[in-house]
Amino acid sequence: MRRGLSLLALVVLLVGHFPGCKSPPAKEIRIGLITPLSGDVKTFGESVKNAFEVAVEEANAKGGVAGMKIATFLVDDRNDPTEASNAANLLINQHGVKAIVGSVTSKTTIPVSDLAQSLRIPTITGTATNPKVTVADGKRKDYMFRACYTDSFQGTVMAKFARGTLNATAAAVLYDASNDYSKGIAEVFRDAFVRMGGRVTAYESYGKDDVDFSALLTKVKAAKPDVLFLPDYYNKVGLIAKQAKETGFQGALIGPDGWDSPELVKVAGDAIEGGYFSNHYSPEDTRPEVGNWVKKYKEKFQQTPDALGTLAYDATNMLLEAIRKANSADPGKIRDALASLSGFEGVTGKFTMDEHGDPIKSAVIIQIKDGKQKFLQVVNP
Ligand code: PHE
Repeated sequence: MRRGLSLLALVVLLVGHFPGCKSPPAKEIRIGLITPLSGDVKTFGESVKNAFEVAVEEANAKGGVAGMKIATFLVDDRNDPTEASNAANLLINQHGVKAIVGSVTSKTTIPVSDLAQSLRIPTITGTATNPKVTVADGKRKDYMFRACYTDSFQGTVMAKFARGTLNATAAAVLYDASNDYSKGIAEVFRDAFVRMGGRVTAYESYGKDDVDFSALLTKVKAAKPDVLFLPDYYNKVGLIAKQAKETGFQGALIGPDGWDSPELVKVAGDAIEGGYFSNHYSPEDTRPEVGNWVKKYKEKFQQTPDALGTLAYDATNMLLEAIRKANSADPGKIRDALASLSGFEGVTGKFTMDEHGDPIKSAVIIQIKDGKQKFLQVVNP
């Protein structure tokens, strides 16, 4: 009797594993993710990992793409360029991935893009905004794509906001000379601000490991700027903001997308209150795509998705859509399909890639109010 029951249980179990008429997809396609899960921008990496996994899970739940189940391989680059390049090598040469999502910051994505280009593996970053991600020495890296606008746009947006909305006539800039993103956007902001009739009264750089900014901030204060532009990631920005307040700096603090982390306010405290930064999306956007995404993400991870996760979700879905269109796991065919995607409807908007593989899309400006991110305005290209 007992034996009979357990046999029945076994049959039920087996049936449960091979449900009904739909047979499991015979093939798989391997996709890699490179993201910083440790180091100075850990919150960026975690958001990107979460969002990537949601996109893949959703596709696999529908049977995969182009008849293939998606198998994923994840590597932590610790926001270090050498680690990132090793990660790309490992994914392509050891794990045999046919496409990569990553990396997250520009300084790690530039070496990844060079490698992806030379090994001909289509790669898409959600978040790396520096122009050099898709272009090297004036030449398009045609295996590289992104789901975000570039720093040429973002830097100009913030210069215009400072001049036009904040009525700033003098600006100061502090940047990390060792970081492509920080240095690149500092230059764009400076040139745009001057072109718009403003004056840059202090333009100073620091190093990657610096923690004491008092000497630089004394110079900044003496230059009497209306705004201080801080193009860096949240941990550094938090530290600088705190010290700026201690120095008695009174002007407005402004910056780019690198500020987007709940950690910023934790590090800076009220020194960052009232500051403004450009970002890629706002959870307060009333479009249904945004509402659905925010709801889904909150249910799963108990937090509001930041721009990084949201862009990674869009980037992953763009790649999956390209694989569907290519109807193949061939990297060259996936690349061609990515290049020809037009009118892609993502959470961050509907967009088409330009000839450099860079989407044309709008930015949002966020203000830190009562320690929270508050949506202020949309800026169109
Ligand atoms: N744009 C940043 C870079 O290129 C990364 C980033 C994107 C940070 C979005 C925050 C939000 O390094």
